[in-house]
Amino acid sequence: MGELTRFGISLDKELLQGFDRWSKAKGYDNRSEAIRDLIRSALVREQWRQGEEVVGVIVMVYDHHQRQLTSRLTELQHDYFHRVVASQHVHLDHDNCLEVAVVRGKASEIEELADRLKTFRGVKHCSLSAATTGKGIV
Ligand code: NI
Repeated sequence: MGELTRFGISLDKELLQGFDRWSKAKGYDNRSEAIRDLIRSALVREQWRQGEEVVGVIVMVYDHHQRQLTSRLTELQHDYFHRVVASQHVHLDHDNCLEVAVVRGKASEIEELADRLKTFRGVKHCSLSAATTGKGIV
């Protein structure tokens, strides 16, 4: 970490109260720490968007009983086989499956895959977590 610089932020009271509740729940000791992390993650997101090749993880939870959903999700991943590095399937309970796919490629392609997976009927959750080596981020 380089030299520390102090700066002031003007916020409306409600927004600040909400932020304090959030940062306390997240376990931050002080506002500076919480704001630093938020800024860093915004910079990482931006880097991810601009990057030529990026890595990430797609997490899906879906209804096991939804007709043909499992095969449709697998089929789509095959369409992106050069982007899906690995995947793991977990039978969460009698009704639900969880699937994790490690993905690699251009950010736009990875986001397109996640967006397409999201739209299938019976998919209850689909999130994309962007990863980076942190190069270029302080
Ligand atoms: Ni399953």
